[in-house]
Amino acid sequence: MESHRSATMTAQALGWIDEQTKALVPPLHPATTFIRDADNQYRAGYSYGRPTNPTFVPPEALLTRLEDGAACLTFASGMAAATTVFLALRPGDHIVAPQVMYWGLRNWLKSAAAEWGLVVDFVDASTTDALASAVKPGRTKLIWVESPANPTWLITDIAAAAEIARGAGARLAVDSTVATPLLTRPIALGADIVMHSATKYLNGHSDVVAGALVAARHDELWERIAAIRTGNGAILGSFEAWLLLRGMRTLHLRVERCCRTAQSIAEHFVDHRRVAAVLYPGLPGHPGHAVAARQMFGGFGGMLSIRVAGGERAAIATAAQVTVWKRATSLGGVESLIEHRASIEGPGSAAPGDLLRLSVGIEDAGDLIGDLEQALAAAG
Ligand SMILES: Cc1ncc(COP(=O)(O)O)c(C=O)c1O
Repeated sequence: MESHRSATMTAQALGWIDEQTKALVPPLHPATTFIRDADNQYRAGYSYGRPTNPTFVPPEALLTRLEDGAACLTFASGMAAATTVFLALRPGDHIVAPQVMYWGLRNWLKSAAAEWGLVVDFVDASTTDALASAVKPGRTKLIWVESPANPTWLITDIAAAAEIARGAGARLAVDSTVATPLLTRPIALGADIVMHSATKYLNGHSDVVAGALVAARHDELWERIAAIRTGNGAILGSFEAWLLLRGMRTLHLRVERCCRTAQSIAEHFVDHRRVAAVLYPGLPGHPGHAVAARQMFGGFGGMLSIRVAGGERAAIATAAQVTVWKRATSLGGVESLIEHRASIEGPGSAAPGDLLRLSVGIEDAGDLIGDLEQALAAAG
């Protein structure tokens, strides 16, 4: 499958076929331990279930190819994947991270990472100048960005961020969960590590918690990351790894549909009298539109937010009125979700009180628009 496009690679899981049985679907290996050879070797490459498991191989191989990387490791969650990158740094290392990013990781960076001795500066990562002035050559070891970024979908110019990182002797890691490997290729733009919460679009069915890292090259940092996964036991369950590959087979169809519907929802509500603003990088008025149009291909993602004209009270009331949209957190599943973001993030949230985050699924676009229309009117 060397030259095949990503739609073919995902649909066929890289063309995997079992040599012995000719089965088209890779097996699930629940084994936690493996037989040692009589001469004391482990020639099959597997010894115990915490370092790795054969069920991880097909999804990790597919993600490596989709991101055009050198290697992939799956993790127990997106947070396990992300925090492993930071734990592979050393106390005292300086990190530049975005002000607008997934709140769970931002909170971890402000608490656990700081206690462990990492020094983190949060900057406006949608401005290349802010990234450039935040790095400390020789001291900054990592620039972490997320694009599009939760929950206002700001865009970071990944190629520019990569150049800044290189100039400072730092690495660039990109949380590409929302873009998926289909809409943005961070490694081709110069990133060193790509992170996914595979809980979202990669699995796509709201039934697996998983994470993944893809490396541009197999180097000493990557070795440390792999050792931390084993040491901390941050591994995926074999059933989850099996389900993840099954979910990824339809990634193209789901992402294409989510992008198309998100774009039409954004365009429908952008001038709506009950909506103060629609935040979506596919709209020309979004501050990240020009960069997104350059670095994303095939669509601007399935995530958008609306700011409800009547403020926080009206936003919560709107979410209370939906019937087709499901009032739940998370994103990237086949079913559309609506969420008053400030409520889940809690005290200290940077999300505006009037903001509803929308994760667009694969339902009928007219049903989703109609349901939001009636909910806005009822809350009005
Ligand atoms: C952009 C982004 N990154 C990381 C995470 C963390 O992933 P997980 O919940 O799989 O640990 C999330 C989860 O919501 C996310 O939305």
